[in-house]
Amino acid sequence: MSKQILFVSGHTHMRDSLANKTILNDMKAMYPQATFDYLTESYPDFAFDVAKEQAKLEAADVIVIEYPMFWFNAPSIVQRWFEEVFLYGFAYGTGGDKLQGKTMIVSLTSGAPEEVYTADAAGTPGIESYLLPMKATAAYTGMKWGGFIYSGGMMSIGVDEATKQALTDKAKDHAKRLQALIASILG
Ligand SMILES: Cc1cc2nc3c(=O)[nH]c(=O)nc-3n(C[C@H](O)[C@H](O)[C@H](O)COP(=O)(O)O)c2cc1C
Repeated sequence: MSKQILFVSGHTHMRDSLANKTILNDMKAMYPQATFDYLTESYPDFAFDVAKEQAKLEAADVIVIEYPMFWFNAPSIVQRWFEEVFLYGFAYGTGGDKLQGKTMIVSLTSGAPEEVYTADAAGTPGIESYLLPMKATAAYTGMKWGGFIYSGGMMSIGVDEATKQALTDKAKDHAKRLQALIASILG
């Protein structure tokens, strides 16, 4: 059977999105067989259907967590999804082996430019530092860390048409980089 990909979208205002909407739409065109899990659209009140979410995870070989950076982190709905769905007996603990061997990838965008999240001698942490809880979650649940794709400077509110086009091109390039990473994992 061909490998299954699950995209989990953590964007909370998809109507106003340029970057994440472009990335996800491109991934849909590239992977028409993949599952797309739009958390806010399905669970605006965070009332997850845990069995349904666990079934999607179990069916997937590669899990892509896709989100805009909010306050130096993933949007809270992503964190809540981990809290409610990655349960004892499913993701960890006795019998909690359902995620083992799967690969987790993070795909994220930020409003601030890449330089703001580039490690330097003055002690500025690199973007990878912000992903440590994701990496730890993958490790704790027996998933392989597949790496991440990141694009900064994706602020599109109040910009002119030319800038919008440039951001769209950048988001499309992000989608291509994500496709290449997925391809390197699927072999
Ligand atoms: C509530 C909120 C918090 C945000 N926090 C950050 C932040 O900590 N760092 C940053 O670089 N951008 C931050 N941003 C900007 C978003 O990351 C940026 O708008 C998004 O990546 C663009 O993607 P989109 O076009 O799909 O919305 C924040 C935006 C919102 C709405």
